[in-house]
Amino acid sequence: MSMPIRHRLQPWLRASAAGLLLTSVIAAQALGAGVTREECEKSYKPSTGQPGKDVVWVPTNDPLVTRMLEMAQVGKNDLVYDLGAGDGKIAIAAAKQFGARAIGVEYNPDMAQLAQCLVKAEGVGDKVKVVQGDIFETDFSSASVITLYLLPELNLRLRPTLLKMKPGTRVVSHSFLMDDWRPDESSVSTDGAAYLWIVPAEVAGKWTFKQQRGDDRFDVNLAQTFQKLSGTVGKGTDDISNAEMSGNKIEMMFSEGDVQTRLKGELKGNQIEAQVTRNDVTSTFIGTRH
Ligand SMILES: C[S@@+](CC[C@H](N)C(=O)[O-])C[C@H]1O[C@@H](n2cnc3c(N)ncnc32)[C@H](O)[C@@H]1O
Repeated sequence: MSMPIRHRLQPWLRASAAGLLLTSVIAAQALGAGVTREECEKSYKPSTGQPGKDVVWVPTNDPLVTRMLEMAQVGKNDLVYDLGAGDGKIAIAAAKQFGARAIGVEYNPDMAQLAQCLVKAEGVGDKVKVVQGDIFETDFSSASVITLYLLPELNLRLRPTLLKMKPGTRVVSHSFLMDDWRPDESSVSTDGAAYLWIVPAEVAGKWTFKQQRGDDRFDVNLAQTFQKLSGTVGKGTDDISNAEMSGNKIEMMFSEGDVQTRLKGELKGNQIEAQVTRNDVTSTFIGTRH
């Protein structure tokens, strides 16, 4: 008696189905899919306030994470470093909400592993990495945005390194300031306080600005404290005012006699290319340092 076709096919079908399931599990694992936040937290569940190497773990609340990344104007071309990354939430949000690449640096190995698991659970493994390491021994010079939730004294320890970063690099800190390096922007709400700094280019010294299409010229002697500029124009009798750097961008005002001058420019290599407005007439000047 011959077996009905349905029964003869069953073992083959079963084998194919099992093979397919195994293949998709392996593929899902390879893609980092399939793992959930709950599964990540099963292996390690940190508690708020637990000790860390230089500072305890307290996560930044979600609205403030978004606010910090908005203040830094994070976009898809950015590389965000979160120094002291905890469970990786800032790095994950930078990728998920703003399309950026991000690297979290976390000292606690269990926490770093949890963060890596959460990166996969959130499906951003292609954009986000969390590395186990000490922020004071990590080279983060390739970052275009730095996020911090540390302590005032740790911000101060990082400050010399931050100030050497590429002009225009944005630094955002939850709660804590940088002593006399005043923030370029502050946001204080019920979610907490966030502060933004833009690493300023270094422009202190004597500059001569020459009109590009004309014979006009003037000298400026600049002193610089972080992003704030002070100094004099011409023979040193007229002070500049409202003068500051934002990354490579420079702005200042001064008056010579009755004539008010407004300068807006950008440091490009060794020169400042500036639009200078006097008596409602704007022209291009090129500044060179002596
Ligand atoms: C206040 S939590 C902030 C976590 C995360 N950035 C956030 O805002 O949600 C600080 C984190 O820094 C970590 N940490 C402390 N000292 C560190 C160091 N020297 N290097 C790297 N991570 C450190 C702690 O383990 C903790 O997870």
